[in-house]
Amino acid sequence: MDAISVIRTKRDKGELSPEQIDWVIDAYTRGEVADEQMSALAMAILLNGMNREEISRWTAAMIASGERMDFSSLSRPTADKHSTGGVGDKITLPLAPLVAACGAAVPQLSGRGLGHTGGTLDKLESIPGWRALLSNEEMLNVLDTAGAVICAAGDGLAPADKKLYALRDVTGTVEAIPLIASSIMSKKIAEGTGSLVLDVKVGSGAFMKNIDDARELASTMVGLGTDHGVKTVALLTDMSTPLGLTAGNALEVRESIEVLAGGGPQDVIDLTLALAREMLAAAGIEDADPAKALADGSAMDVWRRMITAQGGDPDAALPVAREQHHVTAPSTGILTRLDAYDIGVAAWRLGAGRARKEDPVQAGAGIEIHAKPGEPVTAGQRLLTLHTDTPERFDYALQALTSAFDIAPTGTDYTPTPIVLD
Ligand code: URA
Repeated sequence: MDAISVIRTKRDKGELSPEQIDWVIDAYTRGEVADEQMSALAMAILLNGMNREEISRWTAAMIASGERMDFSSLSRPTADKHSTGGVGDKITLPLAPLVAACGAAVPQLSGRGLGHTGGTLDKLESIPGWRALLSNEEMLNVLDTAGAVICAAGDGLAPADKKLYALRDVTGTVEAIPLIASSIMSKKIAEGTGSLVLDVKVGSGAFMKNIDDARELASTMVGLGTDHGVKTVALLTDMSTPLGLTAGNALEVRESIEVLAGGGPQDVIDLTLALAREMLAAAGIEDADPAKALADGSAMDVWRRMITAQGGDPDAALPVAREQHHVTAPSTGILTRLDAYDIGVAAWRLGAGRARKEDPVQAGAGIEIHAKPGEPVTAGQRLLTLHTDTPERFDYALQALTSAFDIAPTGTDYTPTPIVLD
């Protein structure tokens, strides 16, 4: 077997054989297939696609490139969630302890932010002392004692994907549905969860800008999970506007704690409960009431145990950025649009996100949102508060916000977009 014949097969719109797929993934992981050859193959896949058999085999080969975790020693069924990423998407933070409080074990392997979308690990690292890097044994221990764990994927899990994702990031090949689906699902299947709920985001702040692409990604991933024996379901959810009233690391932790304390913004509560119900159903837990577990403090109890078990202090003050700048409404009327992508880019430029994997993030940086689409606003009132430790970033962040919102005259009809689209 050689890389050039594999590339030619896909370049000429052919179907890759199982042997070609197994060989190319293994040889790439071992360094025998060069980055430039894998780049050419990834581009051929982006342009010409893969059928279901090819995607399934590609995913299996990526799983086989590393270790598989095993949670069969736990007495409770496992349930996990994956979001395709968005702006202000802090849902994992209240969701994992909530589902654990309802009786499932939640092994949540999460990532860091890159570009305009935030990362769950960056958010949690704003809690003093909290550790994202756990050994497999520590992960199992936290899961067993707290019921939920949120941590980084170890190096041994789907190493082929780690290498390939980094390559796709710099070769314009991230957006291929077969590659996104196999990348996400190889890690989730190798992680060993029994059931999985996918939150596939649609809109300006998401990978998938329109619902047809999102549906195709969702059904590809559900098919992959099912092929590998993981009960998998997907929700398509709105990402045209940020989730909740914050985008940024410590700001989002604070908002998540409000939700766990029984308050918080309605869209965050609604999506957390919708995903919790799907996760519990997928795990076969029928008699739990997640709304009650939020209201009676049992989800908060799991949060405190989980943060403490990972070295964090749940009572410590969260970092606050040194400087603030307010953006005010230029006119009176109804806010009809607040763009998720623009808010994400501005939060990133303020220091909440990173441009390269090795860049640090500012814990306190980000954006507070004072009005959401559908709400009345008055000229001069605060719409946004920008937070950063480095005020020289304000101008650059403000440039991203020049067409971030629309205000229509009072009385204009406004139809809200539901948070769960399908
Ligand atoms: N997240 C992943 O893990 N992989 C992708 O390809 C895209 C998003």
